[in-house]
Amino acid sequence: MRISVIGCGYLGAVHAAAMAHLGHDVVGIDVDEAKIAALSAGRAPFFEPGLPEVLEEGTRSGRLRFTTDLAAAREADIHFVAVGTPQVADGDAADMRFVDAAFASLLEHAKDGDLIVGKSTVPVGTAARLAESVAAKQPGATLAWNPEFLREGFAVKDTVSPDRLVYGVPEGERGERAARLLDEVYASAVAAGTPVIVTDYATAELVKVSANAFLATKISFINAMAEIAEVTGADVTKLADAIGHDARIGRRFLNAGVGFGGGCLPKDIRAFSARARELGRGEAVQFLDEVDKINLRRRARVVDLVREISGGLDGVRVGVLGLAFKPHSDDIRDSPALEIAMRLADAGAIVTATDPQAVENARRRAPQLTFADSAEEAVRDADVVLLITEWPEFTGLDPEAVGELVAQRVVIDGRNSLDPERWRAAGWTYRGLGR
Ligand code: UDX
Repeated sequence: MRISVIGCGYLGAVHAAAMAHLGHDVVGIDVDEAKIAALSAGRAPFFEPGLPEVLEEGTRSGRLRFTTDLAAAREADIHFVAVGTPQVADGDAADMRFVDAAFASLLEHAKDGDLIVGKSTVPVGTAARLAESVAAKQPGATLAWNPEFLREGFAVKDTVSPDRLVYGVPEGERGERAARLLDEVYASAVAAGTPVIVTDYATAELVKVSANAFLATKISFINAMAEIAEVTGADVTKLADAIGHDARIGRRFLNAGVGFGGGCLPKDIRAFSARARELGRGEAVQFLDEVDKINLRRRARVVDLVREISGGLDGVRVGVLGLAFKPHSDDIRDSPALEIAMRLADAGAIVTATDPQAVENARRRAPQLTFADSAEEAVRDADVVLLITEWPEFTGLDPEAVGELVAQRVVIDGRNSLDPERWRAAGWTYRGLGR
């Protein structure tokens, strides 16, 4: 099939490369010349396991190309819109300028019979609004909404073999044709038995935001239990194991620690709340404001813990392990690790931070911090070692060997990902979160 992907950020670049991998002819389009130059040369503009391979495969086979020229969309019949919907600067809502601009430009080039597919995470009601502009500008084209559930670090796999496919389509013959075309796009996943949910626009949009809201709630729930565990001497990790054995609850996404960050969960729950308020139903999702607050409290708690253990922060040497919002990513958007490192430094601590992939991004955002190239270098002479992003490089550290490098054997495990017994046996003061 002939496919265009408008917007080559995280979602779009992965989607374009994954579509070419599935055998389609793909053109990726973005206004950012540097990004297009990198992608055209087969280089991923961010760290994502598996992406360089599919980019290379696509560009070599000739099935994948990138351009800044939106007119190239004319050569395609199916257009995925994958531009970002960041949080607005002065509130919680999603900034729709990129989506609106992408649709306005794309409609200049869309042809009769084309299928336009929204992939961006948008406030519910957006697709219905955009369908009106499609009908006004190119009545022969059809709009579908096909949300994306990819996780960073597993983005290619999640795109090629998703847990489920959701198509929001209009009623009647047009909607049926749109669903058939999407089934062809994802033919390999459909053949493998991936569940396909065909529904209306509003449901498709809501599936995405409610899935992220649920995941965020699950994490904040266990972090709320961590707060209670901290004042009662209970162990939140054991608690999570125990309640997780109930299949109705499930153990996944019950890891207490510094909480969630990244480019999706935090901004998506805020945008959902903002949209619900606009719809006059703010009360229905008011708990999401609490989910957000619990999450942000965890970051403050870690800073307090360092202060508590060290009797103050001024001049305390802290070796920070982790800067990315989660392992296997170089993404520092709304990263708990970077925020904690910056807060400690602001309060007078002498912070040296490291991360296997995110140092360059962090250096640009927080040039006031000191960065190290390895865990060993980051913890040298530290009074406190603070593990915030659970990269295997950090969770696999040998407490004996690290103990030789530090000034004091004090470790705070912000992800509850170390074995306390092992670290204590090596003479460390171990503090987890909620245990
Ligand atoms: C998330 C959703 O999982 C994905 O489906 C959606 O498309 C985009 O948003 P992502 O942001 O890549 O994906 O990361 P995810 O793996 O969900 O982790 C989000 C954050 O939650 C990370 O900061 C992670 O460290 C944290 N987390 C996750 C916890 O604190 N505890 C957990 O148990 C799980």
